[in-house]
Amino acid sequence: MFEKVEPAPPDPILGLGEEFKADPEPAKVNLTVGVYRDGAGETPILDVVRDAEAKLLETVATKSYAPIAGDPGYEAAVQDLVLEDGGPLSAARAEGRAVTVDTAGGTGGLRIAGELLRSTGAATTVWISDPTWENHASVFRAAGLGVSTYPYLDRTSGRLAFGEMFEALEKVPSGDVVLLHGCCHNPTGVDPSPAQWHEIAALLGSRDVVPLVDFAYQGLGRGITEDAESLSILAGSCPEMIVCNSFSKNFGLYNERVGALSVICSEKSVAEAVSSRLKAVIRATWSNPPVHGAHIVTTVLGDPELRSRWEDEVRSMRDRIRSMRRLLVEALEERGVTRDVRYLVEQQGMFAYSGLDVEQARRLRDEFAVYVLDSGRMNVAGITTENLDRLADALAAVWAG
Ligand code: LMR
Repeated sequence: MFEKVEPAPPDPILGLGEEFKADPEPAKVNLTVGVYRDGAGETPILDVVRDAEAKLLETVATKSYAPIAGDPGYEAAVQDLVLEDGGPLSAARAEGRAVTVDTAGGTGGLRIAGELLRSTGAATTVWISDPTWENHASVFRAAGLGVSTYPYLDRTSGRLAFGEMFEALEKVPSGDVVLLHGCCHNPTGVDPSPAQWHEIAALLGSRDVVPLVDFAYQGLGRGITEDAESLSILAGSCPEMIVCNSFSKNFGLYNERVGALSVICSEKSVAEAVSSRLKAVIRATWSNPPVHGAHIVTTVLGDPELRSRWEDEVRSMRDRIRSMRRLLVEALEERGVTRDVRYLVEQQGMFAYSGLDVEQARRLRDEFAVYVLDSGRMNVAGITTENLDRLADALAAVWAG
């Protein structure tokens, strides 16, 4: 049966992590997968997560199945965090037009969204930015949807190619879905300004194109509330919208696989139908979700003291990432790098699109044991004062030719 099976290519993100592990160079630097590291290069469990787990040890009385859509308390906690804008999203909640289900991470949410769109015939094509997270196209194709792209980045300036993006979005057929990154675009770190979000929202709303927002980095860009502004702006013009959020990064719950999928519908009766279809898709996929991570999130967000400490922890992650961006630019300037690298400090979130091409990214790996993705994406959250010089030397050398 399996003799003719061809091996799959290695994963462009997680596959490189394997290569990194096998590299014998002691000073090697891993800037591949999007995982936050502290100043010592570790990915620690957040203090509030430890405290919530201690609480849960005392209070959780069963490991019996959760409902198909997850615990209702988690649904409310997610909506309070992601959809409570005092504006159009709050209105959708109050009118019973917002449905949220527990998903296995952000990826699980995207896949369930894809399955919902295909199995109901609601849409056949998802438009993704070029470039985007390496897994987006695979997730939607695996769900049986078509995938098209719209331009996003001006590769010369390292900034948003807004004009080209807008022109392409004007041609997206009504009834298609456009995937947008709510904040901290992965892989570029380049986000639209609030004014540009308004233009995008008005365009999609006027064309009956539904936004699907991948929202995996809330709090790591401008702030927890500020990063959700894009969702509110979109909901102001688009009566239907999909949001996939993840707690991998802002709670450091990577291996617990905690995320959620929310669908905003035009009417309460539509939301009820969507809710039932989501449950049917989930039942046929993982039946009902793992809930330990969801319990952690619910506990932290529901306790004012833990919540305020969580906000502090997110702020300190955000601040460290920002300061590493600044230090990198300074270190490059000290080494006489003449190209304009200020875009590195303007980009938001964990990733910097370094401007390296494939050859240069490979030289970084082969000659300096500095691992970035072939696309040139670099996990800024992996830079420390310890590995900064090695990284800056390597970048300066490959850019010098
Ligand atoms: C990343 O982009 O590195 C993260 O979202 C992790 C992943 O699953 O690829």
